[in-house]
Amino acid sequence: MSFWTKKSRIVITCAKGVPPFLKQEISSLGFPVLSAGKAEVETEGTLEDTLRLNLLIRTGQRILFLLESFNTKTPDELYKRISRISWEDYIPEDSYFSVTSSVYTPTVNDSRFANVKCKDGIVDRIKEKRGRRPDSGSERNRIVVHLYWKGNVGQVFFDTSGEPLSKRGYRMIPLKAPMQETLAAAVVLASGWAGEGNFVNPMCGSGTLAIEAALIALGRAPGLLRSNYGFMHLKEFGESSWKVLRRKIRAEAKDRFNGRIIATDISQQAVEAAKKNAMTAGVDRFIEFGVCDFSQTPVPTNGGVVILNPEYGERMGEIENLRETYKKIGDFFKKKCQGYKGYIFTGNLDLAKKVGLRIDRRITFFNGPIECRLLEYDLYEGTRKGDELQAPIIK
Ligand SMILES: C[S@@+](CC[C@H](N)C(=O)[O-])C[C@H]1O[C@@H](n2cnc3c(N)ncnc32)[C@H](O)[C@@H]1O
Repeated sequence: MSFWTKKSRIVITCAKGVPPFLKQEISSLGFPVLSAGKAEVETEGTLEDTLRLNLLIRTGQRILFLLESFNTKTPDELYKRISRISWEDYIPEDSYFSVTSSVYTPTVNDSRFANVKCKDGIVDRIKEKRGRRPDSGSERNRIVVHLYWKGNVGQVFFDTSGEPLSKRGYRMIPLKAPMQETLAAAVVLASGWAGEGNFVNPMCGSGTLAIEAALIALGRAPGLLRSNYGFMHLKEFGESSWKVLRRKIRAEAKDRFNGRIIATDISQQAVEAAKKNAMTAGVDRFIEFGVCDFSQTPVPTNGGVVILNPEYGERMGEIENLRETYKKIGDFFKKKCQGYKGYIFTGNLDLAKKVGLRIDRRITFFNGPIECRLLEYDLYEGTRKGDELQAPIIK
């Protein structure tokens, strides 16, 4: 039996806050959800299954396939356990590998040390079997081995993604404070928008939310945009079945959806970058772009989702100006977005208070180290005459 068809545990990592959406994705692809942590969800399957997962998962960062799990207390024990694994069966001649690690054990206070021990175990094993050292380094564009060592338990995985899945390959021009692609996908999924009604995205920046929305509405696999993954560099990788799978998944996508996607930004440069990124992602013809102040964004009357990711400011002067911006977002919601679900993604809750509307739902996400909220506002039809600026549009 080839190691490609052997079942094992698969851990899919993600940003904190994302597991509920990742769980839904995993289940809807027909995989079991075995457990979920703060920043990962565990399922099971074969190495072959990771091809599909890498292509289809939108909100996960890395698809880790468990190779071995063992008890280990010290770095020397780790080395011994690692060098017992038959790496020569997995790593081809003339290949290259890198090791990443997460280490939480009292005997090691610098995870780089565990990394080196793990790498040495692999190199020495292969040298003994082949008489030649394999190439290794820090590049993650070929085979990536991931070590997870917590307490007395060491787990060795293949990081089948290689580079993280947030690197979809379409964001050639990232601009200032872009949202990670996988997080943007989770935010779109959290809004519930999937192609019906309109997706209005003022302050679109480099276009990540609008592009992810288009990919979701079309049912296009985000992984099709990339051509390199960690699993491709393992022995016995089936190039032809990979091509068949890609073709099949490509054919399953739709070529239209009912709603409209409108993305605007005050910066001409941002809109130009967003357009180019959308073009690279192959979705530019599904997004209507415009340069304007957010308050001038055209909002079609038939409802949908309106979503903004304003800056949240680090310096005092910036925050002072942003107070006014957040207040104006509240006015924009009330005046122009009736019948919509409004969303603000922000890392500054004090600023969010300036919006002045009742928050109907708040979802915590982490944008890197920053704790953020996706705030939801139900913007019901009809404003109250006379006091519309003060009156929040609430149930
Ligand atoms: C945090 S960035 C958005 C990042 C975006 N989500 C991405 O992934 O690239 C905020 C954006 O708001 C834009 N912006 C700031 N003030 C604006 C205004 N008054 N009207 C429209 N856009 C504005 C900025 O040009 C910037 O592109």
